[in-house]
Amino acid sequence: SATDELKGRKIVITAGPTYEKIDPVRFIGNYSSGKMGFALAEECARRGAEVTLIAGPVQLDTHHSRIRRVDVETAHEMYEAACRDFVQADAAILCAAVADFRPESVADQKIKREKEDEYVLHLRSTEDIAATLGQLKQPAQKLVGFALETNDEQQNAEGKLERKKLDFIVLNSLKDSGAGFRHNTNKISIIDRQGRVDYPLKSKQEVAQDIVTHLVAVLSNDAS
Ligand code: C5P
Repeated sequence: SATDELKGRKIVITAGPTYEKIDPVRFIGNYSSGKMGFALAEECARRGAEVTLIAGPVQLDTHHSRIRRVDVETAHEMYEAACRDFVQADAAILCAAVADFRPESVADQKIKREKEDEYVLHLRSTEDIAATLGQLKQPAQKLVGFALETNDEQQNAEGKLERKKLDFIVLNSLKDSGAGFRHNTNKISIIDRQGRVDYPLKSKQEVAQDIVTHLVAVLSNDAS
């Protein structure tokens, strides 16, 4: 039945934004709501998987008893949780909008407005969680990434597929109204080494079903 296709499978999902501290009251963040990742967690659990949902700061609840939730704030915390839990997992879906950079140092007092009309913040790269898991990945483990591109989407997505050693990548379209950040709907394409499939605009719940159906197929290719 539809509810046991992933029975006994362990799936790690990252979701939401990360917050990178600037000082005690400020951070660098992004508009990710976490809705897509949470919908994926619910859908994997509904099909029988044991889910570890590593969530950045979001305003969402988890409902399913097979979802274990790990709340994190920063890219580094998300990286540590993901590396720790991936070892045991059959698959990871990396849906989080991870900050690419964090302030080189965190001010221990609130930064004051200076007389000068500019303030320079030094940033350092964060760890790439997807690429790290791609390195750790064993042959039976599957890795799913997301891409949000503003230009050359196909070429960039294919580049990420290879560089991060993903099994497939979900391309979010920014061109379509209703798709992506903060919306309840999304329009995706799935790109793998076989090619590309475009899906119509759907609710994030239905999009999650399409993505998980693709993952189920990828996981069962190895079993047969
Ligand atoms: O390179 P880019 O950020 O566009 O890649 C997006 C994919 O990589 C997403 O699956 C995202 O969750 C993942 N990612 C990550 N760690 C980062 C940056 C991106 O896991 N530091």
